[in-house]
Amino acid sequence: MIDAGVQSGLRLYRVWDPVQRIFHWLNVVCVMALVAVGTAILWGAELGVSPDGKVLLKTVHVWVGYVFATNLAVRLAWAFTGSPYGRWRALLPAGRGYLRSLREYTAGLATGHAPRYLGHNPLGRIMVTLLLLLMTVQGISGLVLAGTDIYYPPLGAWVAEWVAAPGVDPATLVPGDKTFVDAAAWAEMRAFREPFIETHEIVYFVVLAAIALHVIGVVVGELREGGGLVSAMFTGRKVLDAPPVDQP
Ligand code: HEM
Repeated sequence: MIDAGVQSGLRLYRVWDPVQRIFHWLNVVCVMALVAVGTAILWGAELGVSPDGKVLLKTVHVWVGYVFATNLAVRLAWAFTGSPYGRWRALLPAGRGYLRSLREYTAGLATGHAPRYLGHNPLGRIMVTLLLLLMTVQGISGLVLAGTDIYYPPLGAWVAEWVAAPGVDPATLVPGDKTFVDAAAWAEMRAFREPFIETHEIVYFVVLAAIALHVIGVVVGELREGGGLVSAMFTGRKVLDAPPVDQP
């Protein structure tokens, strides 16, 4: 396959390892499901969702959220130990020579002669870092809400103990039912929850915008530079028409 490519001026290069590829597509599936169910929670009243239906939606959202958060945690750890193009050094928009490479890359884009990158190009690094940051904030705020809204781990048991009325077994509290909670403790818990739900809601809209930008970036990159960016996320290999500037 590589030989055939060389004859046509193109070469195949190995870039994304299996952990990165599995992370990427599992993340896509989880985010799509979280956005869909999250949207139904957000506009539950307008959509006519019953109180029980809302608890069910939150429960489904949280179970998908656990898969999402675990996948993300593996990817963040992999950036310390994984293969070179998936490490922090190749991801973060920082480090020696980064600003120069950004200037050269954007100038190259303007003239149609952008340098070829095997890993993320300098603009891609900004996008990927932003996406990982947003996902992390969404994961952390979501895990807190899982406790405050439906008494699910990691904080659910602690929240239930906090709000249970005197003499009530916290394990018997039912999400959405305030019959056996202490009113004052409940109000305190809701005040504690407020910044997390605000953050979760704002980041939802920012995530939607960032995903749109990410997809536009991939399409523009593919059209201008080729490289087979999308298929590379399946096969792990990119096709380039010139030697990449970021190859060791
Ligand atoms: C990209 C990832 C995610 C997106 C886009 C997302 C989106 C949303 C949206 C739009 C809502 C409705 C907010 C509202 O009603 O004001 C929501 C609610 C919620 N999310 Fe997420 N979410 C994500 C990840 C997570 C994770 C990882 C968890 C936990 C494991 C989680 C747990 C919750 C919970 C418990 C609620 C209910 C909060 C409420 O009472 O409305 N979310 N999410």
